[in-house]
Formats: sequence, C-alpha cells, structure tokens
Amino acid sequence: MDSILIKGNGPLNGQIAIAGAKNACLTLMPATLLTDAPLTLTNAPRLSDIRTMTQLLQSLGAEVASLQGGQVLALSSHDLTSHRADYDIVRKMRASILVLGPMLARAGEAIVSLPGGCAIGARPVDLHLKALEAMGAVLDLRDGYVHAKAPAGGLKGAVIDFPLVSVGATENALMAATLAKGTTVLKNAAREPEIVDLAQCLRRMGARIEGEGTETITIEGVTALGGATHAVVADRIELGTYMLVPAITGGEVECLGGRMDLVGAFAEKLDAAGVSVSETERGLKVSRKNGRIRAVDVVTEPFPGFPTDLQAQMMALLCTADGVSVLEERIFENRFMHAPELTRMGARIDVQGGTATVTGVEKLKGAPVMATDLRASVSLILAALAAEGETVVSRVYHLDRGYEKVEEKLSACGALIERIHG
Ligand code: EPZ
Repeated sequence: MDSILIKGNGPLNGQIAIAGAKNACLTLMPATLLTDAPLTLTNAPRLSDIRTMTQLLQSLGAEVASLQGGQVLALSSHDLTSHRADYDIVRKMRASILVLGPMLARAGEAIVSLPGGCAIGARPVDLHLKALEAMGAVLDLRDGYVHAKAPAGGLKGAVIDFPLVSVGATENALMAATLAKGTTVLKNAAREPEIVDLAQCLRRMGARIEGEGTETITIEGVTALGGATHAVVADRIELGTYMLVPAITGGEVECLGGRMDLVGAFAEKLDAAGVSVSETERGLKVSRKNGRIRAVDVVTEPFPGFPTDLQAQMMALLCTADGVSVLEERIFENRFMHAPELTRMGARIDVQGGTATVTGVEKLKGAPVMATDLRASVSLILAALAAEGETVVSRVYHLDRGYEKVEEKLSACGALIERIHG
C-alpha cells in the first residue's frame, strides 16, 4: 500500500487546475444505459472510482473507451449482455447503485448488489428503492441483491416526495423518470451541481426535464433517448480542498476552472475565517488575509449549504485557528475519523457524537498518520503541508479514489511531497 511523505515547507504559491467532478462523472456514466446511442463525456477525471464504474458498465455489456489519457470517455450501451451488477464490483464503490434506475428504465429489469455501508456510515439505499417502487417497479431483496422488474408496459411517472434529501436517490429517480410513461415530480430533491450537470446531459440526450437545482424537478417521460457529448462540470470538492492550501499554509493559489457558484457557502465560511477568495478570468484566487486564521463554526447541510465532503478539510484548517470552532456533521453518522489522526499531529479536538469542538493551537507537528476514507485522507495532507516536520500518510489508496495527481499539483506550488510505493 502506498504512502505519501510530506515535509512542511511554509507558504505555497502557484496555480492548480481543477479536474472534472468525480461525483458528476459517476452519475453521468450510467446514463449511457438509457440509450443505444453513443454518449461522450469530456473533462472526465482520471480516478480509480471512474475505472471501477467503467468495469461495472463493461460487465453489463456496455462499451467504454477511455481516450486522451482518460479525459474523454466514449460510452455505448447498444447491446447490453447482462442486467446483473455483481457484489465484487459494487462493494468497491457504493455509487454502483446508480446503474439500477437507468437499467430498469431501459431494459425492464436489473439485479444489483446492495452496496452495504462504508467507513462514514451505513449508507442505506431505501430512498432509491422507494422511488423506483413508486414508478411501478417490483423489487425483491434476496441474497444481498435487489432483483428489480419494471411493469410490462414500463415504468410509470409518479410524484415522489423524498423524506430527506438524497443525492443518489435523486439521481436514480431522475434517470429512471426520463423513460417512464407520463410525468414524474421529484419533491425535496437534491440541488447539488452534480444533479444540475446530470439533468443538462440528459436534456442533450432528448430528456424533458425542468427544475434541476431547485427542490422540485419535473420530468416528462419520452419513448427513447439519443446520444450526446457533454463536458463534466468542475469538481467543487477538489476545488474547495485546494482553496484550503493557501488558507492553511499562507501564500496565494489560483484554482483554474474554479467557479464561485460551485462553492458559495464554503467561500463565505473561508471569508469569515480570514481567507480572501476572488474571481479571476481563469478561476478563483485564494490567499490568507493578514494574520492568523479565525475560529468559525460549521454545520454540514445539503447544497447550497456547507458540503459534508469539505468538513474534514475545513477541520484541518481550524486546528491552527485562533479560538474554538464547533463543527456539526449532519449528513453522515461517522465522519470524524480524521479527528484522532489530526490529534496525533498535536490538534486539540473533542468529538461528542455528531459534533467536534476544535481548540486552535499555534502549529501542528508532523507525525505518521493513517487515511481512513477519501476526504479524511486529504484533510491529513492539508494539515501536513502546514505542520512542522515530516508526516507520512498511509493507506493513500483512499486518496486516489477522488484526487488525481495530488503530488504533482501540490509540488508545483512548492510543497515537499512524494509518494512512497509500498
Ligand atoms: C453522494 O453520496 C456523494 N457520492 C457523497 O460523496 C456525498 O457525501 C453525499 O452525496 C452527500 O452530499 C456520490 O455522489 C458518488 P446521499 P450519496 O444519498 O448519494 C442517507 C465523496 O466523498 N440516505 O445524499 O450516497 C445517507 O445515509 C462521497 O465523494 C438514506 O437514509 O449521499 C446520508 O445520511 C462521500 N437512504 C444522507 O441520506 C437512502 O436511500 C445523504 O446521503 C439514501 C441516503
């Protein structure tokens, strides 16, 4: 297992190019199952999760060609040879559940392994299943798989009122509804930019969708969808992560391709903490205002609130803030596993259930630490960039799921960082 060695090296300066969004690409790729025409995705990120989704789609008979070093994905589901998404792939990546809706809508049946939980929580998929049942699907849960069948005449439009906001359930229902007979209304729908990106791609394929980005999305089913070429939206979580590099080390970094509308609540919180964020022609320029980072409180919420996927990274910044910060994690039940690792670096963090209280210290100290999940891993890297001395982050396979070329991007800004192949 690889590790990453980092030596604190003072303020970092330079430019970092932001890649396409992992969480947009992971829902755009299964959209190929909705049509027998070619779907081309550009600005695709080069990540292990994308490779896992590629394997899954290929196991169903879809063709997925990775072109231009992985930045372009050419997909085609002209001849599906299987409707079964096997556990051995699904267990590696929960987003595999996103093949359920499109496969059911296109082929009338799907057998998808239940994804199971992960480090940050139980991650149930009950809302995905209830939405598809509302559209007429008959589901049978047995031997760890969802056996789903659409009615003889295909899925039917329905009004689906989600009891809580779910990104994945909104995506599954949205994709399935594009081919359902009649009108589907998704209420209390997720509003994330990745949902907007999916809707824009589906519309290019011929879907009839209104309201994406608001809490109510209306879809008029059509009999078939065509192909499209679509550029994956910039990754707002990678963007937010790299905005923290100058915040935590000092210096100034321009995040190329960054857009303020993708990180509104996060940028406001950075401003309150003493970090300046300004729009440039090429993206977002970030630098620490004069003096020490100020303590701020954070509550994670569905978009447009503060993203749960930036909570771990923000905690790293607040470990050396002037004062006490309270972070409340409201989306997942176990998303503070980075806290004990940051404590090994000298942070003062008290975790009580879903609330972490961080008392800022002057400086963190490098130490051997362990990555536990994707966003925790990059939180430790941020802390290490600003710490005194050496840090070794182990189990960085978590990191490779969601961040491409981290060492290169950070070295280009002056970081002393290298990968140790284990
Ligand atoms: C997506 O996960 C993202 N993953 C997550 O990013 C992100 O943290 C999450 O949305 C929230 O923004 C992808 O897009 C691939 P949810 P998803 O359904 O769709 C509960 C990362 O680091 N819930 O919005 O699985 C659930 O347990 C990953 O890139 C149900 O109870 O998240 C959670 O508490 C981590 N029943 C809450 O809803 C369901 O059927 C929000 O989950 C579905 C969800």
